[in-house]
Amino acid sequence: MIRIAEEGDIPAIVQIEDRSFEAPWKASVFISYLDYPGFVVYHSDDTVQGYAMVLVVNENATLASLATHPDRRRQGVGTVLLRWCEMFLRENGYTSVELQVREKSIGTRSFYQRMGFRESGRIPRYYPTDNAVVMEKEF
Ligand SMILES: CC(C)(COP(=O)(O)OP(=O)(O)OC[C@H]1O[C@@H](n2cnc3c(N)ncnc32)[C@H](O)[C@@H]1OP(=O)(O)O)[C@@H](O)C(=O)NCCC(=O)NCCS
Repeated sequence: MIRIAEEGDIPAIVQIEDRSFEAPWKASVFISYLDYPGFVVYHSDDTVQGYAMVLVVNENATLASLATHPDRRRQGVGTVLLRWCEMFLRENGYTSVELQVREKSIGTRSFYQRMGFRESGRIPRYYPTDNAVVMEKEF
């Protein structure tokens, strides 16, 4: 169900991205991460239902992107993707992960809290129309 993203997944990923974020990433960004093992899709019924990207720089791990297709939300897809990212990081020697989320995205913040993240800071005006809440989780 979860596999590394492939070139043929890009249109579906971009469609989900466009429907999920105010300032969506362009296809070229996703294309540049093809073959990177931390960029995966949740695939079911021949369709991409969601995707995730986890990035590592030295000792820091960041959940750079995670989204579920709007028609498939609240069905566990995000949970499976996030658990996969945590497994990927543990296997690569990481013991924590950080992310930024829009302060006004109450539902998304609830999702991460439910998944064991805690809020560790705020970045004013990080997004065009919102602050960022920094959230982190130790494994
Ligand atoms: C955040 C997101 C990835 C969650 O994906 P999902 O597949 O719907 O998540 P799950 O079904 O695994 O949710 C697990 C639990 O998290 C909580 N949760 C998820 N979405 C929630 C919401 N909108 N409001 C409140 N709680 C929520 C619930 O406790 C849920 O369990 P329940 O449905 O049994 O109550 C999805 O809403 C999304 O793509 N949002 C837009 C993009 C985004 O904000 N991505 C995160 C960037 S930092």
